[in-house]
Amino acid sequence: MSNYNSNFTDELRERLSIVDVVGKRVPLTKKGQNFWGCCPFHNEKTPSFSVNEEKGFYHCFGCGEHGDIISFTMKSNNMDFRAAINELAQMAGIKVPEFKQKSDAEKAREESYVDITTAAARIYHQKLFEPDGAHALEYIKKRGFTDDIIKKYGLGYSPKNNIISAKFANTPFDKLSATGLVRRGEYGNYDFFREKLMFPIFNASGQVVAFSGRSLDGSEPKYINTVDTELFHKRKTIFGLNFAREFIHKNNRSIVVEGQIDAIQMQNHGFGETVAPLGTALTEDHIAILCKLNRNIVFCFDGDAAGQKAAMRALDIIAPFLRDTSDIRFAFMSGGKDPDEVLKSKDGIKSMKKIIDSAQPLLDFFWFFINKNFNTVTPNGKSQAEKWIEKWLKKITDFKFQEILKTEINNLIWQNWKKIKNKKETEAEKLKSIQLPTVDNITANTLQFIIDNYPELAEIHADFLTTLDLSTGSSGTINLDMNLQDAEKFIVSLKLTKYLEKLQTDKINLTMKLLSGDESVREKISGLDAEIKKSTNRLNSLNEI
Ligand code: UTP
Ligand code: MN
Repeated sequence: MSNYNSNFTDELRERLSIVDVVGKRVPLTKKGQNFWGCCPFHNEKTPSFSVNEEKGFYHCFGCGEHGDIISFTMKSNNMDFRAAINELAQMAGIKVPEFKQKSDAEKAREESYVDITTAAARIYHQKLFEPDGAHALEYIKKRGFTDDIIKKYGLGYSPKNNIISAKFANTPFDKLSATGLVRRGEYGNYDFFREKLMFPIFNASGQVVAFSGRSLDGSEPKYINTVDTELFHKRKTIFGLNFAREFIHKNNRSIVVEGQIDAIQMQNHGFGETVAPLGTALTEDHIAILCKLNRNIVFCFDGDAAGQKAAMRALDIIAPFLRDTSDIRFAFMSGGKDPDEVLKSKDGIKSMKKIIDSAQPLLDFFWFFINKNFNTVTPNGKSQAEKWIEKWLKKITDFKFQEILKTEINNLIWQNWKKIKNKKETEAEKLKSIQLPTVDNITANTLQFIIDNYPELAEIHADFLTTLDLSTGSSGTINLDMNLQDAEKFIVSLKLTKYLEKLQTDKINLTMKLLSGDESVREKISGLDAEIKKSTNRLNSLNEI
């Protein structure tokens, strides 16, 4: 099999979980570290077939069969290697490249590549402790890195001159350039990293395969990273994973932060399970790699707009990896801080713990995200949101879980969007049923002016003013030449007018009764007449003032 391009089979093993591949044929249940089921390769009633998700292999304690996703697919389908690869590639949703033999020359090239990057890491690290690296050392110490941390992460300094080009002067250029460390210009070879604080990047086997360099003089860009090479693919590289792996197991989750310095500081302040993507936004490959270790992930983003955007992206790409066994959470830091800054603040570790502990569960964040990104109080926004939700749900490959999430989200939609609508309707209906006395638009505008300009007066007459329907007024504010005394007179006279209107209506109603022979109302009518006379006099004397 080693004749085939092993990069691609590695990619399949990375992308696909053996639990999913085997789980399609054999029902599995998790017990302890492993998954168990009845062996498909021999007859049995009690499960002795175990599957280890992280290591990616299965083993039957009954018949001794063992292997990985490829041998499982071959054996259980009676397929040859290529057919199995095709089947798995389809499952992972990736294209099979043309198979080619890995030549001895290629293997030799890979070896010399790692030799060069490893030697370069050593050279950079030494430079950090030499006089010309003193400012870099001072910088990183100021940022709270101890000698132990500097050593553990192999931090270094790339000087201004072309130190790697010089030290490897006798190495063929194609070998050097393959590592991305040396380039050829008009005037000869030069180093890609100059005057940078150097962070080596390790592959899964702990070998240095690339670097990230932070600018020390404030020049932009802040970070440059080795461009993709044969052995380094940014999209598939997770910074800090080599150190975090054991903690991800122990703590049963991973924490994903945005920056590599954040990841280092987190790892050294009690959050050993922290990692960061490197020089790119989070990719599906990053998630696939993490999910194979553990499906519990806390995404920890800066509280700014960029952090929100990153969270949105994470929500989108996590969908195909969601299982009913996964716990995905979203944490945000406030005040524009990143984890490094939170940790350095007073009671930093406590604050960070609080931020992680109070991370929003997937559905909570999902709902928050939907309402933030779509204007869900309008029919347009609701429709757009529901379309987005539908598309998102379709990406979830665990169909049972997809169904459950769909129900939960539908419940949220009903409880929230429909409830808001109902509430508004009932409130409007209540108002309608009360039948407030309407006033003409000039009166409404005048009253609005008084309410805006003489709030103390409006308060005194609040009982009266709130019984009026002012909706006939114009929506803008108007300006009137009206002093407080005039304003008071206006309200009182309006009050009397409205009172008189009511008395007149009552009188008409009672008179109708009298005309139909109801003598009992006669007395009430004369009472009303007296009241009407009194109020008319008051109104007249008020207007004379
Ligand atoms: P940030 O701009 O948040 O930087 O980028 P930071 O991690 O807080 O860095 P310090 O604390 O100022 O040193 C987050 C991550 O994005 C990548 C790096 O991996 C960085 O850690 N990045 C950022 C780049 O690759 N290039 C850049 O120019 C900037
Ligand atoms: Mn920072």
